[in-house]
Amino acid sequence: MSFKEQIITEKLPKHIAIIMDGNGRWATKQGKDRVFGHQYGVGAVRNAAEAAAELGVKYLTLYAFSTENWNRPQLEVDALMNLFLETIEQEFETLKKNNIRLHAIGDLESLPEENYNKLMSTIEKTNNHDRMTLTLAMSYSSRWEILDAVKKICAEQKDPSLPPQEITENYFKQKLTTAGMPDPELLIRTSGESRLSNFLLWQIAYSELYFTQKLWPEFEKEDLYEAIVDYQKRERRFGLTSQQIKS
Ligand code: FPP
Repeated sequence: MSFKEQIITEKLPKHIAIIMDGNGRWATKQGKDRVFGHQYGVGAVRNAAEAAAELGVKYLTLYAFSTENWNRPQLEVDALMNLFLETIEQEFETLKKNNIRLHAIGDLESLPEENYNKLMSTIEKTNNHDRMTLTLAMSYSSRWEILDAVKKICAEQKDPSLPPQEITENYFKQKLTTAGMPDPELLIRTSGESRLSNFLLWQIAYSELYFTQKLWPEFEKEDLYEAIVDYQKRERRFGLTSQQIKS
């Protein structure tokens, strides 16, 4: 039986987050420049988005560019920014055809103006699509996001200031860039690395983590299905005992 056939529709995660890693290593293995790996990675983005939408996943969040990625060689950063711009432009039809809403999180104002404008206009144009929300994390890092939330809370403080006991989990999470989105039940990372790299640290407190050896450009629809099947076999206890969950 294929992995797709093993998926239990009623237990589908609502939100899947992916750390797309291994583009550079994949390109090096082909004897090509790292940027070739990023270009090839766009196909894997398209496959993952289509597969998730077809299954009925409501949110897919992809780590496209971290705050730390700005420190890569300028040529690679420029190539990535051009690729993002081209991809968002070219994939608009795919988003439309699949009724996918585009969204973005991160320090978006730090993106080149052209990227920022294209991103915002595509987000606006897909605003009424409701099959799935595809969120691109761009110039994103969790530490930036958490500090940003704290700054928003401080800036909102009026006299009399908000009593500390009113800063609840629910209050705080509305200040994060993911406000209004459910936490991911499943986080996937490709390329064999087992770390979180400053991605959605608040939101993944109880996510199931899935690490695969596949490099991102090699990641196919069947790999996403395999990750979902693996997730569905796990018992999610949220700090309770197995017995409590079963009863
Ligand atoms: C990590 O691989 C990947 C990135 C930093 C960029 C991800 C970009 C894409 C998949 C292209 C298009 C995406 C969108 C959303 C339009 P790496 O370079 O760190 O690989 P390495 O660890 O092998 O060096």
